[in-house]
Amino acid sequence: MDTATATDIYKTKVTAAFNGAAATYDRLGVEFFTPMGRRLVERAAPRPGQRLLDVGCGLGATLLPAARLLGPQGSALGIDIAEAMIEQAGREIERQGIDTVELRVMDGEHPDLPERSFDLVVGSYSVIFLPDARGALARYARLLRDGGRIAFTSPVFSQDTFPFLPPLFTRWIPLSLLEHLPAAWHPERLREQLHSWLEDPADLTAALRTAGFRDVEITDESVDMTAVSGADWVTWSHTQGMRLLWQHLPEDEAAALRTRLTEGLDALRGDDGVIHIDVPVRYVTATVDR
Ligand SMILES: C[S@@+](CC[C@H](N)C(=O)[O-])C[C@H]1O[C@@H](n2cnc3c(N)ncnc32)[C@H](O)[C@@H]1O
Repeated sequence: MDTATATDIYKTKVTAAFNGAAATYDRLGVEFFTPMGRRLVERAAPRPGQRLLDVGCGLGATLLPAARLLGPQGSALGIDIAEAMIEQAGREIERQGIDTVELRVMDGEHPDLPERSFDLVVGSYSVIFLPDARGALARYARLLRDGGRIAFTSPVFSQDTFPFLPPLFTRWIPLSLLEHLPAAWHPERLREQLHSWLEDPADLTAALRTAGFRDVEITDESVDMTAVSGADWVTWSHTQGMRLLWQHLPEDEAAALRTRLTEGLDALRGDDGVIHIDVPVRYVTATVDR
């Protein structure tokens, strides 16, 4: 299979997965992308009047709080490969009466946009999905005006857990369960596939420098993921990366895991009646080197 075909098949799968998730994305009694997006905006610090690009904008977890800071003189463009995400984001923008945000279905790996036309490029949990993310970073540098900045998040990959889940989950999802995953999705292979260069801060800094950035800052910080109940978290997990595991577990193992997760997570309920889970997230910012 040649590379172009493998990339096309991969992108078709990613697009289908997010089109399927769009209707309920981050709206199933679990909050994660919204607080992460807000924090990314704090770190990116868009200023009134600037022009911002959000790559893989999803339903607007980053785009919408950013648009508020850009103000009426500023403008933002959100692009996403999944048209259902763009449709849902469009409804939300209309509902909130925001008229400075434009949305387009576009492959964020090859944005067809004018050079030097943005002050800020952001992307929350989206750069990891780009097969040639390093190439994309160099393209983002060209889209930026002099002194422009990039700001994105990625998972903090930890050894021996299902990628995207914090170590806490190893008590309910033992490594032996991950043996049910197809070989290409074993934690090791997934980490490789999902850009092992994001894992080591030195590799990440080198990738950004090569792409044309300077002043790279990498900060790992926990996002307070909240869930109304263990059962809500389990339902939510079917719309995220963990669907890969659910799809491949034998029914008896899946039922036992559902029970362990539901009970285990419910036991973590705080005084406020909500389950709180610390999820480490990597925040990366850099300035274009011109
Ligand atoms: C985990 S979601 C994050 C969405 C949003 N940034 C947020 O924080 O809620 C990843 C998003 O990246 C989009 N995506 C994946 N590959 C993409 C590509 N090649 N170009 C543009 N968007 C892409 C997906 O459709 C999805 O909306």
